Amino acid sequence: MPAPTESVTVSAPAKVNLFLRILAREESGYHGLETLFCAVSLADTVTVRRGAPGIRLVVEGGVDTGPTERNLAVRAAERFHRELGEAAAVDIHLTKRIPSAAGLGGGSSDCAATLRALNALHGQPFDRAALLGMAIELGSDVPFFLCGSPLALAWSRGERLLSLPPLPARPGVIAHPGVAMATPDAFRRVAEQRGGGYQPRSRSIPIEQLTDWNAVAALAENDFQPVVAEQIPLIAAAVDALRDAGASVALMAGSGSSVFGVFGEAAERDGAIERLRGMGMSVWAAETLENEPDVRVDPIGEVG
Ligand code: C5P
Repeated sequence: MPAPTESVTVSAPAKVNLFLRILAREESGYHGLETLFCAVSLADTVTVRRGAPGIRLVVEGGVDTGPTERNLAVRAAERFHRELGEAAAVDIHLTKRIPSAAGLGGGSSDCAATLRALNALHGQPFDRAALLGMAIELGSDVPFFLCGSPLALAWSRGERLLSLPPLPARPGVIAHPGVAMATPDAFRRVAEQRGGGYQPRSRSIPIEQLTDWNAVAALAENDFQPVVAEQIPLIAAAVDALRDAGASVALMAGSGSSVFGVFGEAAERDGAIERLRGMGMSVWAAETLENEPDVRVDPIGEVG
């Protein structure tokens, strides 16, 4: 086994979907999607280093991440070592800031960051295509966090990805109503409401226009939103408050239950933060990202 010489730290950003269309429920049981992912600066941090045989996970931060064996960072490490053909001997340190079951892709991002960090720790044995192949087995949102850009279109379950040039960073806000929404439940509600029917695309996506926040704002929609907002009325009220405060995009994030707004000016965003806090929500200021987060390699003893 190579000497334990270093630790690798990767930021694991949250995502929002600037639009999200749910198409048919396919034979696999999964729904075909068409979505525009955008990474934001609210982020967890994943640090990996070589350790005793096995996979150990330490989680810091007040976010419930469920049982260790089902944690997506742990499952990423298992999958990575199976592909590598080596027994795992790794410590994973996860600092959680992204709320769970919030539509922000926190677990998926931790999973992708773990794959990136382990790949760096082992001297980059896998190229991006190989990592993407492992990613889609681990979860639908995981490939996006490995695609190399903070902005990407995705189709199908999320394994068909088109990385786009990032949009200029914009001030944003994320707010959580305090009620979780599990992704399978949100899909089930949509399927029940549609009676299994196919929802055609409302319009084709002008990919060449996705270089501009105005064009993105004109497309912004989320098919989950009306269905989940029926269960959690605070979502609709929060989206209205974001719009009133000047957000150019104001939507529920993914399958919920958090909402987000993108603003032209930080002052507008700050006004929205006050209003959402006044509504009893947990609120985070966050910028949209212009770059994929770096992988940081540290000598042991400087774990961040
Ligand atoms: O792939 P992931 O584990 O994130 O998906 C969780 C659940 O959400 C799936 O088991 C499925 O019920 C539902 N899902 C879906 N269509 C998708 C993604 C997820 O129906 N495209």
